[in-house]
Amino acid sequence: MLNRCRLVAATAARLGCRRGLSSGGAPPPPRPSRLLLAAAATVAFVDQRRRLAALPGGALTAVTAAAASDNVQPTVYSETKDHALYLTIHLDPRADKREVLRVAANLQKLVDKVCPPDLRDESDETWAGVGFGYSFYRAAVGQSGSAASVDFSYPHRRGALGELPSTGGDLFIHAKSNQVSKLFELCQAVTAAMPKGSVRSFEDIYSFVYRNGRDLSGFIDGTENAADEESRKQIAVARGGGSFVITQRWIHDLAKIRDSKPAELESFVGRDITDSTELRRKSISSHVARMTGGNAFEQKKQFEIVRQSMPYGTVSGESGLFFIAYAASPDNFNFMLDRMVGKGSDSHSDDIMRITRCVAGNYWYFPPTSELAKFA
Ligand code: HEM
Repeated sequence: MLNRCRLVAATAARLGCRRGLSSGGAPPPPRPSRLLLAAAATVAFVDQRRRLAALPGGALTAVTAAAASDNVQPTVYSETKDHALYLTIHLDPRADKREVLRVAANLQKLVDKVCPPDLRDESDETWAGVGFGYSFYRAAVGQSGSAASVDFSYPHRRGALGELPSTGGDLFIHAKSNQVSKLFELCQAVTAAMPKGSVRSFEDIYSFVYRNGRDLSGFIDGTENAADEESRKQIAVARGGGSFVITQRWIHDLAKIRDSKPAELESFVGRDITDSTELRRKSISSHVARMTGGNAFEQKKQFEIVRQSMPYGTVSGESGLFFIAYAASPDNFNFMLDRMVGKGSDSHSDDIMRITRCVAGNYWYFPPTSELAKFA
């Protein structure tokens, strides 16, 4: 019971449900449903995981069982864990695409090697999913693919406050675990399994939970993310079980953030930095106004995505946010990114770009598990 309460509290905090607990300012408007939903969803989720772990063989976690039954890869709408691996692979143009697809299709086998099903528990279980870049998917899977008719290419965007560069990539692996060493091992296993000479370059980024779910800027990240499993699934999963994914690596200007007044940072985001309460009056260029579609209080959201971003980096080098989100269509991301750089329905850029810089980005398609299995 203790564990469960801790999990509920941590999840609620991570989801930014600490509104109302702040020491200053007016109490936030009552919106208890998300907190209750988050807590209830987590309890149900933990119970389901325990029940499944107790099955004969004990091997199935709820996430892998759900993936098997609903055709969705395990990372798509599950909660984040303490750490994540974001592995971006650029292939050599001469790489054997069939063999590469075979490695991707056998990802769960590599996970099982790193985390043997009969030994793992909640402390080290690892969930992993794999996606393909637009050009690779078209070339390797072609017209038979479930996303064959969708243009999920990622254009380079430029605005008054900076760029959102398109840095490409062929294969992307997202894995989550409470033990970062398991993710390190998994990255080693995946890169070793790739056909000889097929990898031109790769980047592995490991993330961590910062101050109970805050971005390195100090803001709670995830407040408006859908909390209950059913909503996350509806937002993230396309017909057939696939999902579109955006990844972006952002480097924060931590010196600027440290030297800025909280009120200025809050005007950039549109939320209170202490408890994430939404500002009643916010600029049309604030991050929240850009992402939702307007600067009204509790603006109706035009599009939703399931964000799973986490902080990464080192104090001596680069650090910031690894932004990753899942959606049933790339249109949801395109709407938000166009509005970030003033290329949507107006010409305002996103003030978040005053404190952080995007250095990499791409879209990916995470096919349904049944489609992946055909490549094995
Ligand atoms: C370094 C870059 C970014 C940082 C630091 C950041 C941080 C935040 C913060 C602090 C919030 C408010 C709390 C919350 O609801 O989570 C937020 C909200 C949000 N962000 Fe970001 N974000 C970044 C990039 C992006 C990008 C690239 C997208 C979309 C492609 C995005 C989409 C959203 C959405 C949809 C919301 C919820 C808006 C609402 O419904 O109120 N963010 N972000």
